[in-house]
Amino acid sequence: MERYSFSARVLHWLMAASFLFMWVCGYAMTTLVADDSALEEMLFFLHISTGVTLLFLFCLRVVARVTSSVPAPLEALTGWEKTLSHLGHLALYALPFAIIFIGWAESDFGGHGVTFFGLSMPKLFPTMETLWGFNLETTTANIHKWLAYTMLAVVVAHIAAVVKHRVEGHDVLHRMSFK
Ligand code: HEM
Ligand code: HEM
Repeated sequence: MERYSFSARVLHWLMAASFLFMWVCGYAMTTLVADDSALEEMLFFLHISTGVTLLFLFCLRVVARVTSSVPAPLEALTGWEKTLSHLGHLALYALPFAIIFIGWAESDFGGHGVTFFGLSMPKLFPTMETLWGFNLETTTANIHKWLAYTMLAVVVAHIAAVVKHRVEGHDVLHRMSFK
């Protein structure tokens, strides 16, 4: 059976593990830990540095995707299943990019800036409090949050699709695994 390229498989699992960390860390730092505590500061530091790492991995993944061949969709899929699978995979490229971009904007608007394990990253947006009556930091924080949880829902559907195919006797996991 055909598989995704080795680089696509490595990047898929490395990024999936990093996203899992980002959801847990993002939720913990905004909701569970005390405001202005050392733990909150450390979680923000790790969240933003891992976000920058994910942007780098995302760029590598897009290059790997366009330069290597991809296995054809499962023969057994119906037309609408193929379309849904294609749209789902597309969303799993678009959402991470949008989430990182908006997270970056939020950090720049608020004047905190983006750092990668202590190294300052380029400032892509000005430090700015309001535009057309909107508080930019709060608005981008809300968009970041809703996009992050929307992506989580798409990933749950993605996993459900893998399980559904398995139950129907098609081992799609093999296409993305190493054994
Ligand atoms: C460079 C990339 C990123 C930056 C700069 C960034 C920045 C931030 C910041 C500043 C917050 C705090 C928002 C607030 O004050 O309410 C936050 C929250 C959060 N981020 Fe990120 N983020 C990035 C990437 C990601 C990614 C890739 C994910 C997951 C897919 C993610 C998931 C979350 C979640 C779940 C929260 C908590 C939302 C809530 O429940 O309030 N972030 N992020
Ligand atoms: C944050 C988590 C995840 C993200 C963002 C993600 C994203 C993606 C994307 C974008 C593709 C399409 C690859 C391409 O065409 O270039 C894909 C394929 C795949 N993923 Fe995930 N994935 C995640 C988690 C998982 C998990 C937990 C499983 C295991 C159940 C899984 C199993 C698969 C499989 C089997 C394929 C190949 C589907 C096919 O046959 O075409 N993924 N994933």
